[in-house]
Amino acid sequence: MDAQTAKAQIEALRTELEKHNHAYYVLVEPTISNNEFDLKMRHLEELEKAFPQFEDPNSPTRRVGSDLNKAFEQVAHRYPMLSLANTYNEGELREFASRASRLLPGAEFEYVCELKFDGTAIALRYQNGRLAQALTRGDGTQGDDVTDNVRTIKSIPLVLQGEGWPDDFEIRGEIFMPHASFERLNREREARGESLLANPRNAAAGALKQQNSREVGRRGLDCYLYYLLGENLPADGHCENLENARRWGFKIPEQTRKFKRFDQVLEFIAHWDKERDHLPFDIDGIVIKINDLGQQRQLGFTAKTPRWATSFKFKAERVATRLLSIDYQVGRTGAITPVGNLQPVFLAGTTVKRASLHNADQIAALDLRVGDLVYVEKGGEIIPKVVDVDWDARPEGSKPVEYISECPACGTPLSREAGEAKHFCPNTWACPPQIMGKMEHFIGRRAMNINAGESTVQQLFEAGLARDVADLYQLATSQLERMERFGEKSAQNLVESIAQSKTVPFERVLFALGVRHVGETVAKRLAKSLHDMDTLQAASLEQLTQIEEVGETIAKSILEYFNEPRNQELVRRLQAHGLQMRLSQEQLEAKSETLKGKSLVISGSFEKFSRDQIKELIEQHGGKNVSSISKNTSYLVAGDSIGPSKLEKANKLGIPILSEAQFLDLIGQ
Ligand code: IVH
Repeated sequence: MDAQTAKAQIEALRTELEKHNHAYYVLVEPTISNNEFDLKMRHLEELEKAFPQFEDPNSPTRRVGSDLNKAFEQVAHRYPMLSLANTYNEGELREFASRASRLLPGAEFEYVCELKFDGTAIALRYQNGRLAQALTRGDGTQGDDVTDNVRTIKSIPLVLQGEGWPDDFEIRGEIFMPHASFERLNREREARGESLLANPRNAAAGALKQQNSREVGRRGLDCYLYYLLGENLPADGHCENLENARRWGFKIPEQTRKFKRFDQVLEFIAHWDKERDHLPFDIDGIVIKINDLGQQRQLGFTAKTPRWATSFKFKAERVATRLLSIDYQVGRTGAITPVGNLQPVFLAGTTVKRASLHNADQIAALDLRVGDLVYVEKGGEIIPKVVDVDWDARPEGSKPVEYISECPACGTPLSREAGEAKHFCPNTWACPPQIMGKMEHFIGRRAMNINAGESTVQQLFEAGLARDVADLYQLATSQLERMERFGEKSAQNLVESIAQSKTVPFERVLFALGVRHVGETVAKRLAKSLHDMDTLQAASLEQLTQIEEVGETIAKSILEYFNEPRNQELVRRLQAHGLQMRLSQEQLEAKSETLKGKSLVISGSFEKFSRDQIKELIEQHGGKNVSSISKNTSYLVAGDSIGPSKLEKANKLGIPILSEAQFLDLIGQ
């Protein structure tokens, strides 16, 4: 085939496949069988392989993603990505409408009511009808470039249909995980022994930030679009613009309605508060927008939110179900958490089978009994909470819960310290879930960043290959290959990832040890003040409590940890394996006290350094990063495309504003 013919065929196939994608994922009216679709896709793949000169990042073949790992580039938003004000009752919502009337006396409004999707916001930029860039919200001024990942979401058009789209515009919406995808993923994770995803919102945000776009494609994300921005939009009304966008191939929510009267808005809210259970995805409220773009412009924005839109938040839902039995989980610190097994019940879109019972006091306070009718609410956590009991519906002959007195995993008598809500298993050194929990914490992304999951840890522990975290550094590929679910490649990957962790900086090693009360921030503080492990191990209570953010509880916990000979031995072995036990020369040299006692806010994007690097510099020079401007802020470090509201606020409070160059001057770089 000559190149000319190939080009024509490739183009025809691309257009056709995108049409079928749109029919399947947006209209949900398939126009072709899956089989035929696959055949055409394969044909296109072959042609593209044979004629690589016609490569195109927006080809439908690219929707499967790639296995390349990449960190995301941060890009400034062309229009800041603001959030919405929340209202919780009719009165607050009326106040939104009357403020608009006060600001535009005599004006008549059309209200647009939309579902408030509970996912993660996305800004898509289209240039000449093609997807050019997808940015997350980030801090509102700049976001992560997740374009490759977004291409794997099949309902997002890569190339627009129809006509009338501006040459360059932005469309914003919400990427979310439908319940079906969420439940499938959690079933798969459960089968692999991995930790469960907390809720569809976190799952969607997590999926979008996966570094491997092929993996994103597997997570079953979807996207509704609800906001157009640009210079030459086709219509003067919000709704009318979205109707146009629907014709260009975007997935626009079908539930959106336009009303003239405020009581119709209230009806819409009441309707969806009742019906939201039947939606195949989560919503957490209703968004109310004023339709006319001219009026929108006149109303404008406050510092954080538009005056032409607001949201109405639904109350957390609660359902009643029976408590069937109680399990007790042991965490890495030995803390015991009671978990109720429930008669499965449908709650806000998903089936709930387990709920946290908090601790012994909470069980006693509710006088909770097995067999009780309990009320369950969903928070942001993995498992929902039991919040109340219907004592009237109690079965006859039920008895108060007898809280366990021995560890369910190792049988050791539990202890409970004064002032602690939880019971603890003191068998730190031999209780399996505690050991495995510590290993999981150690290998975590923010700690040693070793590429392994919960099930691998369990496998290694049970096979006797890793009884503590130092054992990991002795693993050989030959040992791993003999284990189930390990192949040559995965064994090699794990060993490499473990070796790689030896370069992880000292403060993260310190955090990875899992000393009680030593989180990431405290670990950083300790590393910065004391520089190395030997000094830390020799530090007294007085020395420790002089360090910023280290109080008596933390200091005592550190002393206790290093007083234990088995911990000393563990640290010694880790040191012998070559882990970083001191700050690097670089880290030491960069250090000064120039910004001691100062709080800095950074905003916008910078030329020489990334935002994270600037933050790092601030910390290295003794300063503190804070996220919002107040009268206590010492400096605002302002980059390009910083939002006007931040500048205004800094000016109003008389806070000095530094450019990147001025900031670098200040710290002597
Ligand atoms: S409009 C300036 N419409 O809610 C107005 N937002 O709390 C921009 N959201 O950041 C937002 N559904 O991520 C809008 N129908 C909807 C929405 C919606 C969900 C999210 C969005 C926004 C957040 C604000």
